[in-house]
Amino acid sequence: MKKIAVIPGDGIGKEVMDAAMLILENLDLPFHYIWLEAGDEAQKKHGKPLPDETLEEVKECDAVLFGAAGESAADVIVRLRQELNTFANIRPARAFRGVPSIHSDVNMVIVRENTECLYRGIEFEIDGVAEAVRIITEKASERIVRYAFELAENEGRKKVTALHKANVMRKTCGLFKRVFYEVARDFDDIQADDYYIDAACMYMAMKPRMFDVIVTTNMFGDIISDLAAGVVGGLGLAPSANVGERYALFEPVHGAAFDIAGMGIANPSAMILTACMMLRHFGYVELADDIEKAVEMAIENGKTTPDLGGNLKTMEMAQTILSYIQP
Ligand code: NAI
Ligand code: MG
Repeated sequence: MKKIAVIPGDGIGKEVMDAAMLILENLDLPFHYIWLEAGDEAQKKHGKPLPDETLEEVKECDAVLFGAAGESAADVIVRLRQELNTFANIRPARAFRGVPSIHSDVNMVIVRENTECLYRGIEFEIDGVAEAVRIITEKASERIVRYAFELAENEGRKKVTALHKANVMRKTCGLFKRVFYEVARDFDDIQADDYYIDAACMYMAMKPRMFDVIVTTNMFGDIISDLAAGVVGGLGLAPSANVGERYALFEPVHGAAFDIAGMGIANPSAMILTACMMLRHFGYVELADDIEKAVEMAIENGKTTPDLGGNLKTMEMAQTILSYIQP
């Protein structure tokens, strides 16, 4: 039995979580769900956006399913990622038929290192000179590259591409590239290649279908994953995962959307696709594929919330998706 911490949070976080849970609770999985509080409302009630009790309970769980926090998001989600030591940030980008996008038939996963690089925040400013330290270690690079190849294997993907700038940052990116090809030797069936990050941005815009799994350092990963999301039609359908050795935290990319909160019209797709990522994480790959296909069918049939042109409410779209799931 897996213990899943369910944190709906604020605004539409609660609405899309109800929708995702409608589906999960109908699937007869060996999961035990523990509902916990965090976010702006938790702050008002308990004086802290991430109450001690929530953090303690989360650490007893195998995974966290997170909706969205409001203004306290940085104190909740960034803190949780650190507390749970989730080193891999996984951001799939795929084009759904029926959603306007620059390219169709795109289906890639970006695996971003989540703990080091320039985002360690080691910065100094002395006498009008600001410096930042870029930390890239063999240990973290090997861990993230191996994660990317294993993900490719588990999802039946063919290729892993490393993105770097080793011609300029010879030590840090040089190390990352070297470790990438060392690890690649352990995965005979998966193709390995690499590109400079700047060229890769052009390819991402012009021929994104050349990418399958991308693995890269923290800052490049942050930037290219938003670019990839833009190429397939925006953040509205974007799920994500933060995975560590012990814990995993799954969250849609969108926030609390206070402009539409309480209206029951939030698109539940990103949260449902996020739940699919959790299912894949626990080995339920086919089930996750089935749910994803059901989401795709709902979009193709126009059975969507208003943001995608339909007229369904959040829970109605979730019901439709549930009815489309093939056993
Ligand atoms: P947002 O992602 O909440 O909303 C941006 C726009 O997209 C809004 O117009 C919203 O209505 C729309 N939108 C987002 N998700 C949608 C969905 N599922 N269905 C239909 N429309 C959707 O970003 P925004 O407006 O910048 O932030 C609102 C609040 O959320 C802020 O308090 C912010 O701090 C918080 N936030 C929290 C995040 C998290 O918990 N991870 C991430 C981003 C923002
Ligand atoms: Mg970002």
